[in-house]
Amino acid sequence: MLTTKRLRLRQWTEDDFEPFADMCSDEDVMAFFPKCLSREESFAMGRRVMTLIDQRGWGFWALEIPEQTAFIGFTGLHIPTDKMPFSPCVEIGWRLAKPYWGKGFATEAATAALNYAFNTLELKDVVSFTTVSNKRSQAVMRRLGMRDTQRNFMHPDIDLLHPQCEHVLYAISQSTWKSL
Ligand SMILES: CC(C)(COP(=O)(O)OP(=O)(O)OC[C@H]1O[C@@H](n2cnc3c(N)ncnc32)[C@H](O)[C@@H]1OP(=O)(O)O)[C@@H](O)C(=O)NCCC(=O)NCCS
Repeated sequence: MLTTKRLRLRQWTEDDFEPFADMCSDEDVMAFFPKCLSREESFAMGRRVMTLIDQRGWGFWALEIPEQTAFIGFTGLHIPTDKMPFSPCVEIGWRLAKPYWGKGFATEAATAALNYAFNTLELKDVVSFTTVSNKRSQAVMRRLGMRDTQRNFMHPDIDLLHPQCEHVLYAISQSTWKSL
């Protein structure tokens, strides 16, 4: 478990799956993904994420506001499919329920996740990627000190003709993170 001033990043529980499914059925939250998730798809994703944290000790942690809200979304580290043109790599990612946008929670949680990536896992680099049009997510990347590599790529799991296929790729090295 990681803690920040306002948040707890923790392993998921079964109770998180319902609010996670609500979040993943919200068209605003899923605007930069090919589609919203069904309840079954959200529950399955929640279970996969939970299993990966059990196996590795880290992952896309559930985000909690202690004493206030048990689940507001997730932020953390993940190994994406090895079909990515820049694999192998570790990515940082985030997805928050809409009432929790605009409060600095994603950047606060991601700062703790990057500290873990570079100080505990001692990774050399962490990447982050999103659709070209997802400006809010790119703003989080820039606030963290990540830089646009200018190596846009077509996401291997999205139809080439889909408007969200093209992705930007941001990255940050351990030495840059430690110098910030
Ligand atoms: C991407 C996403 C996590 C970004 O959330 P966000 O709230 O915009 O980002 P942050 O948590 O860093 O918050 C920054 C905002 O909070 C404001 N803020 C308010 N109080 C703050 C505080 N105490 N500390 C820091 N910032 C604060 C900042 O000024 C900034 O506002 P702005 O967007 O008007 O400039 C969110 O939009 C989301 O979940 N989207 C859907 C899922 C998604 O697209 N995920 C990425 C796919 S790759």
